[in-house]
Amino acid sequence: VPEQAGTERIDAGGRCVTPGFVDSHTHLVFAGHRADEFAARLTGQAYAAGGIATTVAATRAASDADLLAGARRLAAEALRSGTTTLEVKSGYGLTVEHERRSLAVAASITADHLPAVHPTFLGAHVVPAEHTADPDAYVDLVRGPMLDACAPFAQWCDVFCEDGAFDADRSRTVLQAGRDHGLRLRVHANQLGPGPGAQLAAELGADSADHLTHLTDADVDALASAGVVATLLPAAEFSTGSAYAPARRLLAAGAVLALASDCNPGTSYTTSMPFVTALACREYGLTPDEALQAATLGGAAALGLDDVGHLAPGARADLVVLDAPSPVFLAYRPGVPLTAAVVRGGRLVWSSS
Ligand code: NIG
Ligand code: FE
Repeated sequence: VPEQAGTERIDAGGRCVTPGFVDSHTHLVFAGHRADEFAARLTGQAYAAGGIATTVAATRAASDADLLAGARRLAAEALRSGTTTLEVKSGYGLTVEHERRSLAVAASITADHLPAVHPTFLGAHVVPAEHTADPDAYVDLVRGPMLDACAPFAQWCDVFCEDGAFDADRSRTVLQAGRDHGLRLRVHANQLGPGPGAQLAAELGADSADHLTHLTDADVDALASAGVVATLLPAAEFSTGSAYAPARRLLAAGAVLALASDCNPGTSYTTSMPFVTALACREYGLTPDEALQAATLGGAAALGLDDVGHLAPGARADLVVLDAPSPVFLAYRPGVPLTAAVVRGGRLVWSSS
């Protein structure tokens, strides 16, 4: 490629250069934390979807400025570990106005020195307390006024299809309404136990089905043959102490894998894609190359993007210089900051020195 005027030269000094990480599943817009809930899990308490209500209350109570500051702080933290593209969900507002505000916050995380943000509407995260007596009334709110208010800020509609959240029929209703509002689809599926989420994602041709901790062989085949990206979230499995998703079965069936952080205060309070990559190597049995590909090109596929997640003429110059000779070091040296520099859109936006 001929060098153009104004090109910035960066000497990587023989170190490993990878595409910027594409973190295709996060919940960055929230207030407060749930450290007590995490500590209780360490003494044997199981994770349940009900914990989401704690964060909904804190998020509703937060000021616009605090909500935006929190999301930007996490986006900046993600960039420092090498993330250059970030999907961000709503889902801790759960009223028309609070969901609209969460998506407006996500959409306003725009700065050259932060990852590029792609927002997702997750009004169907759980049924909020004020609607538990009549979940169908909440589904009607989500598919009508809430989507009308939120769709202009979002690219995808997501739903938490799980016991304790939304069953298959309610999930399908929300997703079809999302599609009618011009959104593409993604699904939180088969996280806490076996269930209909993966098959629903295949039936509706979602871009991605996420979590997939508990899959039957039929689920695996349905995802692979429908071309739904299988987005695995090993840091959520780590934080909840659950089983790990059957990554090798998905690969053997021909599915495209993505790895993402799931950053949220309940099940995965990390933005670190190097940590996620290390878990995927050790717990899923991925090779370092497979894990890196899932954390970059796989994330891009899950977001329908073809210009990030790989380094080639015509792709965006989003890249990471690792303080390491090879990607093996992402798993071999877990928990240490290996990111030496981050380039986004051809410009050096962060450096450790
Ligand atoms: O992806 N599964 C649903 N949503 C989040 C957890 C949300 C929470 O506990 O606050 C997840 O794990
Ligand atoms: Fe999630």
